[in-house]
Amino acid sequence: MDAFKQNEMSHTLAVYNFKGGVGKTSTTLSLAHSWARSFKVLVIDCDPQANLTQALTSQEHSTNLFTITKKFLHNEQPSIQPVEIHPYLYLIPGDYRMAEIESNTQFISFGHIIFYKLLSAIRHNYDFIILDFPTHFGVTVKSFIANINSILIPATAGSFSISGFKKLLSYLSDVDKDKPLEILGIFFNQYRKNTLYHQKVVREAEQELGSLILDQRIRESIRVSEANGRNESVYAFTDQSAVAEDFLKLSEEVISRLNRINLNEAISSVAEQEAKG
Ligand SMILES: Nc1ncnc2c1ncn2[C@@H]1O[C@H](COP(=O)(O)OP(=O)(O)O)[C@@H](O)[C@H]1O
Ligand SMILES: [Mg+2]
Repeated sequence: MDAFKQNEMSHTLAVYNFKGGVGKTSTTLSLAHSWARSFKVLVIDCDPQANLTQALTSQEHSTNLFTITKKFLHNEQPSIQPVEIHPYLYLIPGDYRMAEIESNTQFISFGHIIFYKLLSAIRHNYDFIILDFPTHFGVTVKSFIANINSILIPATAGSFSISGFKKLLSYLSDVDKDKPLEILGIFFNQYRKNTLYHQKVVREAEQELGSLILDQRIRESIRVSEANGRNESVYAFTDQSAVAEDFLKLSEEVISRLNRINLNEAISSVAEQEAKG
């Protein structure tokens, strides 16, 4: 992690796949807890379902992503005070009303400017800002993508397809951005190493997509749901479970991949593979 520290800049990444139930929220939580051992981390719950918020805090908070967005929409300066989970980990809670605001015409036109203002106001306070995205590729997701550095893509062997991944890249490339989005890569979650079908899917994905696939996989483990349900991290179990070890290694691998592959490079590498047949 020292290589990152030397950079001394904050990095904003989203955990995203337009498929539901692939582990976006569980990954956000685990990365956040793991990086918060060495860095100052903020997580933003962008999903109206607010699963991340429920996993981190059982209290109601008057300031959340919706109340902040609404103030910006009314040209007021919101006070942005993330909830302190512990001295290295902070949260901007989610709110179900983020679903309604998606049809607000001002938000549709200016969402990217609002989130630019939001991130500019707080970025300097954190080493990492991690966004837990909803599944829906709507205004919230697009407006944040316009302003972040990178995305990390969780996938499950059961639902992964190269064509789905290509579609995701093409959606992402429709978002106007000053600097190309970095693709940190895809990793397989809920992986069962003894299931032949899982082995086959991952082997084929690695052949087709090469360096876009992270080495670390996250095994399937009941500990993930247990931790979420208990408002704890997977690292909190005293027996240091194997899945916690997987997530810890993933968090290190992600850092080692910062500033490496951008979206245009990812799209051409997929096209090259296809041409090779
Ligand atoms: N590695 C894993 N092993 C077992 N269950 C998992 C794992 N990762 C996620 N889950 C469970 O799968 C469900 C969906 O995960 P979640 O992180 O909420 O996905 P998403 O945010 O993409 O919808 C949750 O019930 C979660 O506890
Ligand atoms: Mg989620």
